[in-house]
Amino acid sequence: MKYMLPIILLTSSLLASEGAKILIVLPIPWYSHTNTFMPVFRELAKRGHQVTMVSPFPQKKPLPNWTDLTVNATAFSEVIEDFVTSFVGQNVYMFYPIFWRVFTDLMKVSFQDPAVQEVIKSNTNYDLVIIEPFYAQEPLVAFGHKLNVPVVAIHPLGLTPWGAYLTGNEMSFHLMPNIRTAYTNEMTFFQRLDNLLVNVIEFAVAYFHYVPNKERQMDKYMVYPGSDNRPSMLQMLRNVSLTLIDYHPSLLYPEPLQPNMIPVGGLSISHVDELPKDLKDIMDNAKNGVIFLSFGSILRGKELEGKVISVIFETFAKLDQVLLMRWHTEDVPNKPNNVIIKTWMPQPSILAHPNVKMFITHAGLHGITEGAYFGMPLVCIPLFSDQEFDARFVEKAGYGTVLLLPDLTKENLLANINEVLKNPKYKKTALERSAILKDRPQTALESAVYWVEYVIKHKGAGHLKPARLQLSLFQNLGLDIITFLLSLLAILVLVICKIVTYLKLLKYKNSVKTKKE
Ligand SMILES: *[C@@H]1O[C@H](CO)[C@@H](O)[C@H](O)[C@H]1NC(C)=O
Ligand SMILES: *[C@@H]1O[C@H](CO)[C@@H](O)[C@H](O)[C@H]1NC(C)=O
Ligand SMILES: *[C@@H]1O[C@H](CO)[C@@H](O)[C@H](O)[C@H]1NC(C)=O
Repeated sequence: MKYMLPIILLTSSLLASEGAKILIVLPIPWYSHTNTFMPVFRELAKRGHQVTMVSPFPQKKPLPNWTDLTVNATAFSEVIEDFVTSFVGQNVYMFYPIFWRVFTDLMKVSFQDPAVQEVIKSNTNYDLVIIEPFYAQEPLVAFGHKLNVPVVAIHPLGLTPWGAYLTGNEMSFHLMPNIRTAYTNEMTFFQRLDNLLVNVIEFAVAYFHYVPNKERQMDKYMVYPGSDNRPSMLQMLRNVSLTLIDYHPSLLYPEPLQPNMIPVGGLSISHVDELPKDLKDIMDNAKNGVIFLSFGSILRGKELEGKVISVIFETFAKLDQVLLMRWHTEDVPNKPNNVIIKTWMPQPSILAHPNVKMFITHAGLHGITEGAYFGMPLVCIPLFSDQEFDARFVEKAGYGTVLLLPDLTKENLLANINEVLKNPKYKKTALERSAILKDRPQTALESAVYWVEYVIKHKGAGHLKPARLQLSLFQNLGLDIITFLLSLLAILVLVICKIVTYLKLLKYKNSVKTKKE
């Protein structure tokens, strides 16, 4: 009898989150971003919530409790092409102008899509909105206001000062290594100085240039009854209930996170499909082992491709291992016999095969996550964005080497492969990393689903929001206090000067007086 009440309370609070209506709006075709979180969205539908998803990635087979509003991915091709070609090999200071231009264009294409238009005009009610309001899709935060419901954000990269500002987290411009540099968490004085500059530039451009731009975009396209008197975009962004961040301390450096940030790094390995038979046969029969190579879903540009391919082919002509290579076309001439190219390969399933000896990766977050999960030593060949940063983490953690694109020659690639294959340190460290990544009280998927339902149950879970979200940028940076203290100091110095001058004057007058006498 004593236990009846808690049990009843428990079941009723569980019921409160049951059968919620969830709207997910992720119109931009960032496959890796959306796909990482797809297991969470599907699990929500499985648990009885009604999920409506606006995205270019509809379910292949119809799912119960699931409605797809499909965005036309083709309409983005031009902008994405522009993005990738302007990006590869760029220096870190050039990222931001490219980012902000492309991100505004991506959102413009999104807003012109009929599926997005439909959901802006629709009168359907929902209980929760899920968006990706960092870097490009900020205006969609207005869905929270339109529907008057809490917003959950997905953050598919490690935290940056800008992301930290929006979520009320610690903004350390000098200590938080910028994910678009090649620094680690241990920096020299000059690295910290440079890191501070990169972070400040990123932040200032976002705050003073990008957000006003995006706000105009929101005002133009997110029009619905009541949109005239909504809070500013920044206010709404800083009012998001919860952020699921693709981060875990086993996969990058430790960072302080407020309780409104849930680290769900490792989501992309929520399940491992069975290998297709042809691949399985090849892998089972590879006497000298298999090396897997993938540059992710984006590597374009004819010149770069030609160079990369010829280096890889020349290197593997000298090796006994079978190379499984993911590439955007299977039609590549001069391929050595031990090289197998496919446009798509199930990465986790391949890495899980016992015959795989190492993974050559562009070191995207998911590549290094999946590598770590399966205890795979890595050769990282970073291409752009946060990839060199992630690669440097792998190098520092000791489960792989880094080979930069300008140094990519047959000799260097062979040297890196031999080092990682022959020095047992890499495999040993990779297995340790794998054990650390798997040792957590809840899987990434369980934790993500738990916290999304938590927000629904506790009506936005406002108690998780750090109070600093109500402070202005000036206050957040402590500039009000510094200004106050400096003013005090200035007044003090002024007063002392006055007193000293007065005393001097007094002394002078006295001495004049004494002389006269
Ligand atoms: C769909 O939702 C209902 C509750 O609304 C739930 O009972 C059912 O299990 C869900 N169906 C599937 C196949 O996930
Ligand atoms: C998708 O967009 C492309 C390019 O803008 C266009 O040619 C095509 O007709 C669109 N498809 C649909 C189904 O609207
Ligand atoms: C913040 O979100 C809550 C719901 O989670 C809502 O009630 C409130 O009006 C929002 N405030 C602003 C300024 O957007």
